[in-house]
Amino acid sequence: MTQTDLQYLFDPRHVAIVGASHTEGKIGYIILNNIIESGYRGRIYPVNPKGGEILGHRVYADIGDVEGEVDLALVVVPASIAVQAVEACARKGVKFAVVITSGFSEIGNIDAEREMVETARKHGMRILGPNVFGLYSAAASINATFGPGNIRPGNIAVISQSGALGIAMIGKTAEENMGLSTIVSIGNKADITEAELLQHLFTDDITDVIFLYIEGLENGREFMDLVKQKPRDMQVVAIKAGKSEVGARAVASHTGSLAGSDKIFDAAFKQAGVLRAETIQEGFNWVTTLAACPEPQGKNVVIITNGGGIGVLAADACEKYGIDLTSDMEMLKKTFQPVVSRFGSYRNPVDLTGQAGGDDYREALERALNEDSIHAVIALYCQAGMTSLQPLKQTIMEIQEQYGDKKPIIYSLFGGEETEAVLDDLTRSGIPAFADVQDAVSALNALYRAYEQRQLQEQEEVDIDEEAIRALLRQVADEGRTQLLGTEAKAVMQAAGLDVPPFRVVRDIEGAIAAAEEIGYPVVMKVVSEDIVHKTDMGGVLLDLDDKNEVMEGYEAIIRNCRKQAPHANIRGVEITKMVDRGVETIIGATTDPSFDKVLMFGLGGIYVEVLKDVAFRVAPVSRREIGKMMREISSFPLLLGVRGESRKDVNAVIDAIYRVGILVDRFPQISELDVNPLVVYEKGTKVLDARINIEVEK
Ligand code: ACO
Repeated sequence: MTQTDLQYLFDPRHVAIVGASHTEGKIGYIILNNIIESGYRGRIYPVNPKGGEILGHRVYADIGDVEGEVDLALVVVPASIAVQAVEACARKGVKFAVVITSGFSEIGNIDAEREMVETARKHGMRILGPNVFGLYSAAASINATFGPGNIRPGNIAVISQSGALGIAMIGKTAEENMGLSTIVSIGNKADITEAELLQHLFTDDITDVIFLYIEGLENGREFMDLVKQKPRDMQVVAIKAGKSEVGARAVASHTGSLAGSDKIFDAAFKQAGVLRAETIQEGFNWVTTLAACPEPQGKNVVIITNGGGIGVLAADACEKYGIDLTSDMEMLKKTFQPVVSRFGSYRNPVDLTGQAGGDDYREALERALNEDSIHAVIALYCQAGMTSLQPLKQTIMEIQEQYGDKKPIIYSLFGGEETEAVLDDLTRSGIPAFADVQDAVSALNALYRAYEQRQLQEQEEVDIDEEAIRALLRQVADEGRTQLLGTEAKAVMQAAGLDVPPFRVVRDIEGAIAAAEEIGYPVVMKVVSEDIVHKTDMGGVLLDLDDKNEVMEGYEAIIRNCRKQAPHANIRGVEITKMVDRGVETIIGATTDPSFDKVLMFGLGGIYVEVLKDVAFRVAPVSRREIGKMMREISSFPLLLGVRGESRKDVNAVIDAIYRVGILVDRFPQISELDVNPLVVYEKGTKVLDARINIEVEK
């Protein structure tokens, strides 16, 4: 990726509005008004051939007439004249043009868009858009959008692939009083991409959390590599649209961008440390929590509540997310017994009971926050009728002030109008407070996940016989084939270090007997032919052959069956291989994703993959630790751990096999598809029974 400097896009010293309008309500008027209202300190140059004055600012008939330098030009003239307007900006020496105008590649007008970018590049000008809503940047205190005007500065950056949704988000962030460092839409990304924007945000001084709305990524691999470089204390939350089949189609026709398979996006986000929210509201909840809370210094969480019911709901939600509710009774008793009444409980959830007021909460919270072995607090309040809420609100505000930057405290307040009003005030003060207990626990979970140590993509040395693999693949390509024979695919797997039972390809009965004797009975025999796909149906496979006679008869039968059923097939011989014991059948797959390139799949064989689609993905290559997580994601994983009296299978051997396949497809990009099916897993070790590899010949 090229290093870019977007400083003057986000912190322009002087701006022009090309197409600034005299007419109130037009986009060119609203933008100028927003810029003025947002307290922008640089010079503002409205440009419009009609000249005159708009909102007290002199209007320039042509951008070329502006005397001083212009870092940023907002282009708001119709598409028919936008290319000329951009060219005029570029000639003037403008550094960045934000082209708001619609009507380019999104409706098939690709040539004009290309011309616009080429012209800009010739003069060293960069373009954001076209088809964007503008940009807000706290660095320059500039609201150059045509959205709502009341944006509060803060530490959250929003990047949206959808302009309309982005504008709605401005409204929503204003309503929730969320502080923004920037909000931009990237529109048709004719020039500046989200990757460049992210790169800039990773290094600016104000952004702590990035909220991304993504519809598709042309180069998911580049995105992942970039996100992995983010500073550790900067968090990225993403909403990826296009989850359902219908959604995916809508995205494809909406922006023309490639919507990769959703499971692959999920996997890639996990690997890169991006938190993926399901809904926009969930994303907002997480983002505000991440922006407000410090990193938890340990796993022990305490729930403080005034109602048993919501306490249990919160505890259930914690269990669902794997959040550790501390059960150190000695510590809990010492810490909370003095503050709980006789009807309450110091056990976790700590129940202060219904009559608890602001002072009780203060004491309980202070005790929790001063106890070193408690690392985060979930404070719940259920409206209890008798008590006024004002003291509680006061307590929360003060506690936040004193402890808010030391430990994460997440609040949930449930009740009627008065509770809602308090909740509103807390939210508007940037305190993570939610009406629903689930939302509070989900936000705390996001905080924990955000700081989970992401392992580096360590690439250990593994003994892969690259020479042998290269030679095999070259030979297949030279023959003009795109699919390897099963025996060739197994040879590749063997060279990659997977355990493949011994096999030979023979061309006559004597050879078959010799091979079987060498390998040792029982053996399996299989026809070798690229023209016969369904080998079993053709009578081309025989299992469990125990002696010389069976092998002789078997060889003849296979040749006879195949010649009869597929007279034109090129029969290269018969494969003799060891018949192996039964074990748990698994599948390792690799495929090429248009956005993320090589991805790996793992699942258990038979119905688990084919019917239940119980599979997990990762982008290759994958570290062993990440493979462990990937395997645990499938619901059939316990079958490998041994159920109903079965012994535990060799999970580490499977991890090793997946690891090697990951390295194989990464080092040999010409492998477009690969299946190890099945990989049989035993108490000790694994065995590759069959494999399929497809290659792209031109690579
Ligand atoms: N240089 C500068 N100004 C010019 C020029 C020129 N060469 N030629 C004309 N103008 C002036 C016009 O006179 C007019 O000013 P006026 O109102 O004082 O007369 C002003 O520029 C605007 O031109 P209009 O022809 O009135 O254009 P209009 O404002 O109707 O539309 C716009 C322009 C907004 C760019 C429109 O073409 C457009 O693309 N709209 C969609 C914008 C959009 O939605 N973008 C995506 C955002 S994200 C989302 O999806 C919400």
